[in-house]
Amino acid sequence: INHLTPKTRREILELLINGLKRQEYRGYDSAGVAVDSADQKDIAVLKRQGKVAALEEMLQERSVELSVDESVSSHCGIAHTRWATHGEPSAVNSHPQRSGDDNAFVVIHNGIITNYKTVKTFLENKGYVFESATDTEAIAKLVHHIYSQHKDYSFQELVEQVIQQLEGAFALCFKSRHFPNECVATRRGSPLLVAIKTRRRLSSDHVPIMYTNNKATRGVVPSVPRVNSHAHFEPEEERDVEYFFASDASAVIEHTNRVLYFEDDDVAHVKDGVLSIHRLSGTTGTDPHQREIQTLKLELQQIMKGNYDYFMQKEIFEQPESVINTMRGRLNFANGTVTLGGIKDYIPEIKRCRRLMLIGCGTSYHSAVATRQLLEELTELPVMVELASDFLDRNTPVFRDDVCFFISQSGETADTLMALRYCKRHGALIIGVTNTVGSSICRESHCGVHINAGPEIGVASTKAYTSQFLSLVMFALVVSEDRISLQKRRRDIIEGLHELEPKIRQVLALDGEVKALAEDLYRQRSLLIMGRGYNFATCLEGALKVKELTYMHSEGIMAGELKHGPLALIDDSMPVMMIVMRDPVYSKCMNALQQVTARQGRPIVVCEEGDRETAALASRCLHVPRTVDCLQGVLTVIPMQLLAYHIAVLRGCNVDCPRNLAKSVTVE
Ligand code: G6P
Repeated sequence: INHLTPKTRREILELLINGLKRQEYRGYDSAGVAVDSADQKDIAVLKRQGKVAALEEMLQERSVELSVDESVSSHCGIAHTRWATHGEPSAVNSHPQRSGDDNAFVVIHNGIITNYKTVKTFLENKGYVFESATDTEAIAKLVHHIYSQHKDYSFQELVEQVIQQLEGAFALCFKSRHFPNECVATRRGSPLLVAIKTRRRLSSDHVPIMYTNNKATRGVVPSVPRVNSHAHFEPEEERDVEYFFASDASAVIEHTNRVLYFEDDDVAHVKDGVLSIHRLSGTTGTDPHQREIQTLKLELQQIMKGNYDYFMQKEIFEQPESVINTMRGRLNFANGTVTLGGIKDYIPEIKRCRRLMLIGCGTSYHSAVATRQLLEELTELPVMVELASDFLDRNTPVFRDDVCFFISQSGETADTLMALRYCKRHGALIIGVTNTVGSSICRESHCGVHINAGPEIGVASTKAYTSQFLSLVMFALVVSEDRISLQKRRRDIIEGLHELEPKIRQVLALDGEVKALAEDLYRQRSLLIMGRGYNFATCLEGALKVKELTYMHSEGIMAGELKHGPLALIDDSMPVMMIVMRDPVYSKCMNALQQVTARQGRPIVVCEEGDRETAALASRCLHVPRTVDCLQGVLTVIPMQLLAYHIAVLRGCNVDCPRNLAKSVTVE
């Protein structure tokens, strides 16, 4: 904050803690904060293992020492919630990391520094003693080392020197005792934005930002500072501003919706109420003068739980609306046309391509599995579906006439982003399918489809899956628009989409039945989920939900593979679920069902409403409404989401923040 209405230290700490709580889904095994000490000469660093609430308690206990009731008109505080990569979750390994006992420099970091061992050895040889097992500590000590050599450097110049030594991925925020009330932030690979709150609602041009070019190496490239030419401020107004650096907008949306996303190697510096953005010399990227401040539509209410117990529960029940939002303005049910504005101009190129590649991780990958068959049918192109990590491991051949889809709720998943860059280097057309405007995948794609599901906070993805699914279905419809032979099929699908929302509501009404089922299952050690064809993805996704939320073993099994191994697991005590719909693989599914019952298996079956024949073979049944075969997966996945949710609650698990996981995995 700078010269805005003075704030008490209590307010500043609350602001930092609330920001962390809103970002807690990104990681939650420890948390920490650094603020000025009471005499403003020192920095107080407080860290604690566990969730943000534990840190909050600690701050309350130490409120006297932190002079929480004192007012300040200018202050820089940093705070962090961690998902451990290097070093176990513990107070000493949590961030901020420090340069030494005196907290001369403190830093928070999202990402992984791959060359930290080299940097650490270099610094140890200079006499630095490390206290943590993190890669981040090397950054705090490196900035101190450079400072000790170059006392005349500005804070921003020091950080520029630091990041030139770093390899890997990072978003960093620095604070220093030597530069009171200043903050420097930078990124490479990991997401970072700045949100800007001014007292008066100033237009985009009227925000105090100074853009400067290429000032990395002193004396080599002369700096060319350029004040934003449109900015006209009264002196006091110029300083009347608060800046918030954050990994994503949910942390700051309650303060302002005006944000600027940084690019790799931007170095942002806040000093005296002015934000300046510098680019390292020799780096490419958009001219900093071109950066635009965006006004986000995200609202605080959207990231609050409302009347639900958990975000995940809220997000499951939001699906009737979220699927409508995905289709809004894109599907014209009356005349059967589908338009995806974000890829419209690329359709001719897409139609000429050699093949489609769908790449993602976790649930996003499953949405590709779910829609592959329809894409093959409607586009008549070869379709490859790939896990981003494996795709990269294989150095998969990619060609200029390939069209590559990168599916990611967050738009920040490191594996998916790396795969995107790999395909881009090979000249392919890059299409981003994300739920986060302004995310790295959005910005680095040639074109894209925003799935418009609304913010998803629960770590286990639910509504993003159904919206990704429908986005890919709409893509298949767009590409097949002029295929005469496919017109009937297209009309049926469009009709199916039209009727989807009430059917989703019908499935959600099964909640009580699913809960009763969860009560029978929650003490089990394992759950097998089988299906094939259009519903195989539901098995994979259902098993993933059960695993990640309940810590119970679960496996999605391709029913066609049953006789090649999994059948050996079947007996009267192994919990098995089977998805059996009246689609082209119905008779094959019935075979599998009979094979299971013949081995004394007692399958719980998800089948169509009114299907007595199938239900007769089941120990228990969940009936879902029928829709077009290729859309059925949207309806069959919802009971799985609900089941995983209820089992997790019954087992006492933390539904929104499962152990060891994070929503947005921005490390490889
Ligand atoms: C993490 C989350 C999963 C998610 C996956 C891909 O592992 O815990 O729920 O499916 O990342 O995330 P993305 O944001 O790329 O869809």
